[in-house]
Amino acid sequence: MSFTKIDDLLKLMGSRGTARRFKSDPIPEECTEKILQAARRAPSGANAQPWDFIVIEDRGLKEKIAQILVDAHREARKEDMEFPYEDDERLRRRFMDAPVLIAVCADPRFMAAYPKAGYREAILYVSMGAAIQNMMLAANACGLALSWGTVDSLCRDELRRLLGVPEPLLVFEVLQLGYPAEGARPRFRRHPRDFTHRDVFDTSKLRSDEEIKNLLSTRRSPDIYSGRK
Ligand SMILES: Cc1cc2nc3c(=O)[nH]c(=O)nc-3n(C[C@H](O)[C@H](O)[C@H](O)COP(=O)(O)O)c2cc1C
Repeated sequence: MSFTKIDDLLKLMGSRGTARRFKSDPIPEECTEKILQAARRAPSGANAQPWDFIVIEDRGLKEKIAQILVDAHREARKEDMEFPYEDDERLRRRFMDAPVLIAVCADPRFMAAYPKAGYREAILYVSMGAAIQNMMLAANACGLALSWGTVDSLCRDELRRLLGVPEPLLVFEVLQLGYPAEGARPRFRRHPRDFTHRDVFDTSKLRSDEEIKNLLSTRRSPDIYSGRK
């Protein structure tokens, strides 16, 4: 193992952060291509590669996507008053300012490739997550930010119709790609010694229900999502 390479990789990972505000400056096409190459290298259950990506730059289309997401947030907020949904205008700006959106489509037909006894849906979703993580790191290496998307079940069908995605494929996420408008804010990370167990689970490291409750109540603020201090 080359330590220089692993240290470089860890440094790259450490410099990544979710951007929620973007500059509208265009990005080099070459970067988008490299990011899609990174997706191609991701592992996936049964090597099914159950993904398709739609690169969206058209302003009119972006406006419609932003509106669908804002409306879905409003609906979701009615059902879940506690959850700190992002402010509508901030959410809209996030999708409008980012010069490129990447709709990530998942093909559930590949679930048949996974063992019945396993969690077929989970294998599909985890495979999508692996591809997205690769893409995020590639974006970071290009000096860009690629952010996770806020698509929930409330608007998947509408997005599918808007983007002409055939059934039974689903729009899994809409990622935002661009130059971040502000530097990545380092976020709290647990230390490996706190989550690493040797041979068997060390229950002295198990976080109590109380601790989890406290964490949720202290971090359950819009700041988690907005990136504001
Ligand atoms: C599965 C998943 C879903 C996420 N959903 C959202 C989201 O809907 N909106 C958002 O602003 N950030 C979302 N994020 C980003 C996380 O909030 C972010 O990764 C986390 O707070 C850690 O911050 P960092 O990415 O800057 O290190 C999501 C991340 C993951 C992995």
